[in-house]
Amino acid sequence: MTTEATQLDGMGSQRRSHVCGEVDSSCVGEEVIVAGWVHRRRDHGGVIFVDLRDRNGIVQVVFRPETSPEAHERAGELRSEWVMMVRGVVESRSAETVNARMKTGEVEINVHEVRILNTATPPPFVIEEDSGVDEAVRLRHRVHDLRRPPLQRALTIRHELARAIRSSLSNSGFLEIETPMLARATPEGARDFLVPSRLQAGAFYALPQSPQIMKQLLMVAGFERYFQIARCFRDEDQRADRQLEFTQVDLEMSFVGVEDVLEILEEVTEDSCREAAGVDLPRPFPRMSYADAMDRYGCDRPDTRILLELVDMTDIFSGSEFKAFRGVVDQGGIVKCLPVHDAEEISRSEIDRLEKFVRKELGAKGLGWVRVDAEGEWRSPIAKFLSDAERNAITERSGAKPGSLLFFQADAFDRANAILSRLRIDLGEKLGRTDGREWDALFVVDFPLFERDENGQLGYVHQPFVAPLEEDIPLLATDPEKVRGTHYDVIMNGVELGSGSLRNHRADLQRRILELMGYSEEESEKSFGFMLEALEVGAPPHGGFAFGFDRMVMVLAKADSLRDVVAFPKTQRGQDLLMEAPSPVSPDQLEELSIRVRAAKPD
Ligand code: AMO
Ligand code: AMP
Repeated sequence: MTTEATQLDGMGSQRRSHVCGEVDSSCVGEEVIVAGWVHRRRDHGGVIFVDLRDRNGIVQVVFRPETSPEAHERAGELRSEWVMMVRGVVESRSAETVNARMKTGEVEINVHEVRILNTATPPPFVIEEDSGVDEAVRLRHRVHDLRRPPLQRALTIRHELARAIRSSLSNSGFLEIETPMLARATPEGARDFLVPSRLQAGAFYALPQSPQIMKQLLMVAGFERYFQIARCFRDEDQRADRQLEFTQVDLEMSFVGVEDVLEILEEVTEDSCREAAGVDLPRPFPRMSYADAMDRYGCDRPDTRILLELVDMTDIFSGSEFKAFRGVVDQGGIVKCLPVHDAEEISRSEIDRLEKFVRKELGAKGLGWVRVDAEGEWRSPIAKFLSDAERNAITERSGAKPGSLLFFQADAFDRANAILSRLRIDLGEKLGRTDGREWDALFVVDFPLFERDENGQLGYVHQPFVAPLEEDIPLLATDPEKVRGTHYDVIMNGVELGSGSLRNHRADLQRRILELMGYSEEESEKSFGFMLEALEVGAPPHGGFAFGFDRMVMVLAKADSLRDVVAFPKTQRGQDLLMEAPSPVSPDQLEELSIRVRAAKPD
């Protein structure tokens, strides 16, 4: 094989004079030295062309026997992804060979000397914009994958974003402070990753789900403005926008109200998106209440570029003869409608496909629909169950007219909304019902503080330290479910970029809220004792926020998954296919940690 036969060269005293991407017509006549990877090699009989690639771009280098017989001969050995350095003279390409799509497309380097710095095994796929290769293969060969332009771009945005955020927050007086990775469980609602302690046999650290408690302690300690680009760990089901380990831009401020925090959030979001990706976000960001977001969009992270909106029709069906809907309303569920006007292009078979999809993928009980035809007649599997009064009310509320298609969900609040909000996005995008804006940043505010679980017990919506809105505090005694939290989310293009709140800085209020959530005094002390204690040593009013940093990069890079903006991500099943983690460990290691492993549970 060539690999063994190839004599590798050192770089000698030679160093690069240019990066590949910057060799352009301004360099014609200059001698340059460039280095990189053999992106593509074409042997045109006498002349060998190589596209040489480095991080910066691609430049064409040419080996001509008449320029250097030695270099030309060595070029015959080159293969994809070999590493080389060349010295040559930049020349203009003849008019017919100019490649207008490449920044370096007007020139080529006529090679006088080549040094082969390394060989390479054949790449598992071509290093192209779109490799068209299964993701598992890409993750297994992540090093090659990372050479592809989309990942090079995403990681560059990632770096620029981190830099811009650091600079924006530093300019606003925030101090970057690190908090421990080996910590105690924090209440962000996911499962903890545990790390066994060798020194305290049988005891475990928890990797932080977020630095929440630590940053609050830093406020009590008087740092006033903290931030951290922090790694967080949550053992939860993986989705396109969730990784087991991810990065937050975590921040906290003292002596602030909601407005102060939102102003900083707007500022850092605007600054960093502009600096890192040239994205201009108009300020102020619009604000929407949680109730409004759920009502109109069916989700708490609406993409408001999509113009379709949902309409609540629960009351219309409260006395209906249509059992499928009435029954849901009787049990406390809702009936909601997604009206799509001028929907002639949605065929009957498309509707059937949608029904199958929502049943199978989203757990829907069905998909009620009404089509108003050109004559104003209702074509619908549910029309026969509806009274005239119900039909009139539906028409009025949905604005139905000839050409309209109405989709219905009767279900529990969460599910009905989740299903229609998904249809809203799919249909809105498919039918082009968008307002044409590229970027859509907004705040969602006024979340409820509590929600009831299936046993009727109150629990937190976000986390247990969220302060209630001051004017809602009296409701804690009378109607806790109506209490709104000081919680706010930043949403961009339908993605929850991050969330935060003001915190309970008084121990008495914090205790009361824990009690309402069913914690006994003893449990509160056990889980949050050190936190409650800290609130008693002079805690200032404080509040903060955490951006999902990976999600910000994902939105800015227009990627579909966090896996496309993280250098070494985990799969759906939590595996790193490159390093083959997680992996079994030796019995000695377990012994040292006083751990015995039972036989693995079958899948
Ligand atoms: P929260 O739990 O909402 O709040 O997390 C903040 C943001 O972090 C991102 N995020 C994730 N990103 C990738 N993978 C995950 N598994 C994942 N989980 C969360 C999201 C989310 O909006 N301590 C509070 C913040 C605060 O109140 O200051 C917290 O962690 O973008
Ligand atoms: P059925 O009476 O169950 O045959 O349903 C009549 C129509 O209503 C069908 O098109 C079903 O898909 C639809 N449907 C039934 N239950 C629901 C529901 N809970 N929400 C929305 N549509 C439903």
